[in-house]
Amino acid sequence: MTPTNAAIDPRFEISRIDRRIFGGFVEHLGRHIYDGIHEPGHPAADADGFRADVVELVRELGVSTIRYPGGNFVSGYRWEDGVGPHDERPRRLDLAWHSTETNEVGLHEFARWLELVGSDLMLAVNLGTRGTQEAIDLLEYVNSDADTSWTRQRAANGRRDPFAVRMWCLGNEMDGPWQLGHRNADDYGKLASRTAKAMRMLDPDIELVVCGSSGSGMPTFGSWERTVLEHTFDDVDFISCHSYYQERFGNAQEFLASGVDMSRFIASVVSIADAVAATKKSDKRIMISFDEWNVWYLHNDEGGQDDKPREPGWPVAPRLLEDRYSALDAVVFGDLLITLLQHSDRVRSASLAQLVNVIAPVMTEPGGPAWRQTTFHPFSLTSRLAGERAISVPVLSGSFESERFGTVPNVNAVATVDDAGATLFVVNRSTGDGEDLRIDVSALAAAGAGVSVIESHLLHDDDRYAANTLDEPERVGVVPVPGISVEDGVLSLSLPPISWAAVRLG
Ligand code: AHR
Repeated sequence: MTPTNAAIDPRFEISRIDRRIFGGFVEHLGRHIYDGIHEPGHPAADADGFRADVVELVRELGVSTIRYPGGNFVSGYRWEDGVGPHDERPRRLDLAWHSTETNEVGLHEFARWLELVGSDLMLAVNLGTRGTQEAIDLLEYVNSDADTSWTRQRAANGRRDPFAVRMWCLGNEMDGPWQLGHRNADDYGKLASRTAKAMRMLDPDIELVVCGSSGSGMPTFGSWERTVLEHTFDDVDFISCHSYYQERFGNAQEFLASGVDMSRFIASVVSIADAVAATKKSDKRIMISFDEWNVWYLHNDEGGQDDKPREPGWPVAPRLLEDRYSALDAVVFGDLLITLLQHSDRVRSASLAQLVNVIAPVMTEPGGPAWRQTTFHPFSLTSRLAGERAISVPVLSGSFESERFGTVPNVNAVATVDDAGATLFVVNRSTGDGEDLRIDVSALAAAGAGVSVIESHLLHDDDRYAANTLDEPERVGVVPVPGISVEDGVLSLSLPPISWAAVRLG
């Protein structure tokens, strides 16, 4: 009999999984809000202008917490513009995305949309063009139950009870020179610490996320985290990580190593946070909020960026960042989710950037349909099938040589367990080799009971660049894993090159 080459054993527990790891991100950007989730003239729109077909897809996606309203947008945003009577709301320039913000949708409308999709709100404050006072004004408006001018205003705007928002980001990507109000690590660290202290005086129950680097490739990566945490260690609960991946120069094999990059990024930030803890003689552990991650074709092969509207002037809801995702992108994306779960002991929150139309799993056409991109499938399946605890899954597989990471295993896997069973999430990163897995699952069997496959899903396409489009919205999907079986405590399955799978075991 062929020996096993992997094992799922609940004794190799990584951590309890915080469901906030399956979070999302909605920014006022392009057609995300306007002509995306909100399109009053659309046949599927409700009385508030929210498209029911989009709501349904976002529910199916299974997003826990949603970060709002940016992103780069938040660094120039005046939250007061988005509350109160609609005819009094100003139209403003959005400098981050060279667009016009109508403020038709603001805090109250977005909170109502979140009730429809069943997700929790995570808010970011503007520490770009604004500061501590505006942040505590917003917190008072959102969370306070005292009788004040702000809370009276909230009630007059239709919300008597506090919104009770628990997670707050102290600005966005403040290390990035493109950010409005960009600062060095010292200046940002001091501002973030002051603001965090003030916010906690108002509401001690909130959880705070301080900005880490906008990517591990930033010139200040590492020193930024250390300096910012030296200022804010006692004030915050999380430090953020942001990372986007894309295939470059037609090198799919290198792109398929993206999970290794994400894993090293997380490990580095954890080390820096724990080193700061050591210098402070503290047992406190700063957690990671990986609050922007995705595949994003940001750079063209000449090194340029394509992230400003093509239309002249300052358009409302231009088509921006509307990436079309392929089967290959979805496999890389599935591996990024596996990586987040492998680090669930420290990654306690993550936000898929973004949700609708803008680098998104859900696409819409104005007046037309909404559909699932390829990346929709790994996200919705991981969110639905992941159990309570993450388990590490050692695998012996083939490997490939990466320019950046050396020898990289073809197969990467993680499992989760709960009282009803286990789920395996697994990827074959090889562009050329299939992988046959024989996984020892005997440790999952309760006394006398066998292990069986309840459901299985394989994402693979012989055309790695196949995508779902307006004309062909269901071109790429998932199918049950062909030939999967469990016999004598061994789960057998074959993964074609460039594939991702989820297997639920009972
Ligand atoms: O998600 C798109 C943009 O990427 C966000 O606005 C910004 O935070 C990041 O650079």
